[in-house]
Amino acid sequence: MELLGIDIGGTGIKGALVNAETGEMLTERFRIPTPSSRKPDEMAAVIKDIVAHFDYKGPVGCGFPTIIKNGVCMSAGNLHESWVGINVDELLTKETGHEFTVLNDADAAGYASMNYGVGKGKDRLVIMITVGTGLGSGAFFNGKLLPNFELGQIPYKDYKKIEQYAAASAKERDNISYEKWGKRFNKFLKLVETIVAPDLIIVGGGTSKKWKEFNHLITVETEVVKAELMNHAGIIGAAIACLKEQHHGHVNS
Ligand code: BGC
Repeated sequence: MELLGIDIGGTGIKGALVNAETGEMLTERFRIPTPSSRKPDEMAAVIKDIVAHFDYKGPVGCGFPTIIKNGVCMSAGNLHESWVGINVDELLTKETGHEFTVLNDADAAGYASMNYGVGKGKDRLVIMITVGTGLGSGAFFNGKLLPNFELGQIPYKDYKKIEQYAAASAKERDNISYEKWGKRFNKFLKLVETIVAPDLIIVGGGTSKKWKEFNHLITVETEVVKAELMNHAGIIGAAIACLKEQHHGHVNS
């Protein structure tokens, strides 16, 4: 089934048509920068433009960079505070005229890896970590999603949350090398390992493209692999979630 997948991030909003049964991307990725206000109305207008770019009539799957419960945004993450409490599903359906399935972006990326990537067939606890503006995490136990894991929200030293220390935006803010940033990321992975004892960690998100620059700094005991779908995983996973919703109803209630 051909479905439109959209991945909403703090810096870019990206979409592509996906064969949700094979995980294959059928078009080039279309990207528009996230409006700097990161406010609902302005972001919804960009999402409308992304949908309009594709000659597409069906439902849309959408990864969103906050906690999402039953379509409702439950935390601001790195977006504007006014997102909290908004039914993102409803807002985007109204804006675009398309039916939407919205879920957390890292959960979406995890869906792609668990169905068509390195996570395929992996049992027990698999944690997907996405590195971008924020640090996202998706948890799967025996292939089943445990929605809204928020490992990037762990407080660390003077930081309110560890993503402010170890996400890609922290690297940029502090203008540090991959060598330095990689050590920070490794500290984050050590905490993840201590807290949830995963069997496999998959690293995705925009920064996974730079895997070679930092993977030698990862020293945790747990197996850590790169998401080979890299930052396409969010789009592909959003389309998969949409397909699941078509067949089984809510994916993240
Ligand atoms: C949010 C998560 C999100 C992650 C990556 C964090 O700030 O709390 O929900 O998955 O950023 O976008």
